[in-house]
Amino acid sequence: MTLLPLTVLKEDPRSTILAYPHGDAQMVSARIQELEQLGVHSVYDFGGKSLRGFHVLGLGYCGVVILARLGSQDVALKIRRTDAPKSDLRGEAACLAAANQIEIGPKLISTSRNFLTMGYVAGDRFFDWLKETVSNHDSKAVQAILRRILKDCYKLDSVGLNHGNLRYISDHVIVSNESAVLIDFSSASQFRRAANVTSVTQGLFIGGKTRNYLKEVLSIPSKKTLIESLRNYKQRQTEQNFHALLGLLGLS
Ligand SMILES: Nc1ncnc2c1ncn2[C@@H]1O[C@H](COP(=O)(O)OP(=O)(O)O)[C@@H](O)[C@H]1O
Ligand SMILES: [Mg+2]
Repeated sequence: MTLLPLTVLKEDPRSTILAYPHGDAQMVSARIQELEQLGVHSVYDFGGKSLRGFHVLGLGYCGVVILARLGSQDVALKIRRTDAPKSDLRGEAACLAAANQIEIGPKLISTSRNFLTMGYVAGDRFFDWLKETVSNHDSKAVQAILRRILKDCYKLDSVGLNHGNLRYISDHVIVSNESAVLIDFSSASQFRRAANVTSVTQGLFIGGKTRNYLKEVLSIPSKKTLIESLRNYKQRQTEQNFHALLGLLGLS
């Protein structure tokens, strides 16, 4: 794990990850200034993915996420991609801040147009964790994490904050220290009708590749039964209807 001060990164060809994939030298240097204004002084060459010879924590459609140093703190730094569908990360930051108020998501630290700093969540991608835990037949651990994910989704529904990307649950949950953290509020919205419980249930138990894994350790109701329960919940997002769904899944 190498720590690179921005003053060193400036002179390094790998600095293009700050304006991935299409930024030029001018954009890179403007972004280095923007980072300095945020108080970020160094970045780590660290993470499970390699991008242009630099290790990163992750890559999505909106951003490249790397480990960085802000003051004396290690943080996850989201860098807006030059081809991102959003022209500014501050909308995402506002949604993450709203999620933080109900204790969801990595803790937002600071933001600017092209960068967002937040708490670094060490852990495993949900799907990797699930495969491993299912192969150990640890149904208790699977139940605990699923319960946590669904309850967080219910909390988000209750405050009208739609995550917007929960069908692809494996990319958006990090499992760490026997807990689960929802990440990536880039498609989130505070104005839309929230459908987090519905999306996550569809992604985990109805469509998607996780249903078959989950079936190995849990008794999961038929898709038809689940869809009916979701329909009730959709009509009236009450605690009672949510608990009925949890009960069906054996998670209450
Ligand atoms: N706070 C964080 N801590 C650790 N890794 C993170 C964090 N945020 C994002 N990542 C990693 O970076 C990847 C891309 O981040 P994400 O927010 O999903 O970007 P995008 O909006 O482009 O999809 C994630 O799938 C995850 O692997
Ligand atoms: Mg993402």
